[in-house]
Amino acid sequence: MPLVDMKDMLQHAYRHGYAVGAFEVISLDFLQGIMQAAEQARAPVILNLVEPHFEHFDFELMMPAVEMAASRAQVPVAIHLDHGTSLDSAVNAINRGCNGVMVDSSHLDFAENTDITKTVVETAHACGVPVEGELGYVPGVDGEAADNHTDGVAYTSLAEARAYVTRTGIDFLAISIGTVHGHMKSKPKLDYARLKQINEALKVPLVIHGGTGLSDDQYHRLISNGVSKINYFTALSDKVSKQIKENAKTQTANSYCGLTKDVTQVVAREVGHCLRLWGAAGRAAEVLAQCGAWIPVEHLIIYNTEQLNKADTETMIAEGRRVLSAIPGVREVFTGEAVQNDAKFQYTWLVRFCHPAVIESYRNHPAHIAFADNLFRPVASNRISIDYQAV
Ligand code: 13P
Repeated sequence: MPLVDMKDMLQHAYRHGYAVGAFEVISLDFLQGIMQAAEQARAPVILNLVEPHFEHFDFELMMPAVEMAASRAQVPVAIHLDHGTSLDSAVNAINRGCNGVMVDSSHLDFAENTDITKTVVETAHACGVPVEGELGYVPGVDGEAADNHTDGVAYTSLAEARAYVTRTGIDFLAISIGTVHGHMKSKPKLDYARLKQINEALKVPLVIHGGTGLSDDQYHRLISNGVSKINYFTALSDKVSKQIKENAKTQTANSYCGLTKDVTQVVAREVGHCLRLWGAAGRAAEVLAQCGAWIPVEHLIIYNTEQLNKADTETMIAEGRRVLSAIPGVREVFTGEAVQNDAKFQYTWLVRFCHPAVIESYRNHPAHIAFADNLFRPVASNRISIDYQAV
């Protein structure tokens, strides 16, 4: 189960002076290519699910594949929501399997960005999930042409960064020091002095958005000044598009499979190059040994109902499923009735939490308290309730 705690993963990178690549998953071919490269390079890796790109694929359909890729990997993996648009997005991402989240309010003013990020941190931390916050503004659109960013870079200020990290409690800070998402208009000039000051003052793993298009030397200077996560997509998108166009010229039959047959390989080649360049290659074993594994908890209740007929019991169960499955950190609510008529307990709830932290936040969540106190406990005094973690 090499899904690991992303905070541990990036702290390891920060302490040891390398950066983990956060590569965007936009299709199954990309997912396979990223994982293939990470396995070949024996590197930790972050699978980035980027909300503005959810118009291109069904996020909820994609997540089981992403989780499966992580669970069968031999290398440490984290699954991250990138550029989430709201607290609801973050909760949905956590409940679908992301174990790191970013809600991007960097385009808002400092106070608003701080308030929104703080709320996201409170909710995510109650689920054991670390949070990336962004301060300063990195313009542009991942994968797109430079014309798409008419607005300029807003550089991260040290004074604001200090206040933002303290007030919000974020785990990783995305900074703006001259990169842009997508293609650059001209050669990027990076403000290393600013980066160095922020790193020395804050000592939190730093994140670079708009990772495409820098020179080897620029990557190395970023990493030696605290950058521990690099978001990367445009170069993958460009290389894949180029290959598809070449295939279109050479394929006698322009079938979909013929055009896209090399996508996984092209993604794997570029991702592998980044993993080696950024120092993550060969680190898998030490990261696995030093990082907490990401293990869900099964919250099991077995019970009988009293003074409630079958139809009313089913109504109560349906209401429970509705309210409990929306609580942050709840992956799944299974409700069941015993197959055997003479079972000691006729009914069960099996609620899967993404992390042990959810045992407490779920218990204290107002929606859980209201349901349990008003609809469940009064009719189910005969019950057993236990939390289990996989061994
Ligand atoms: P590029 O597309 O410029 O590599 O940036 C990706 C990114 O920052 C995603 O958040």
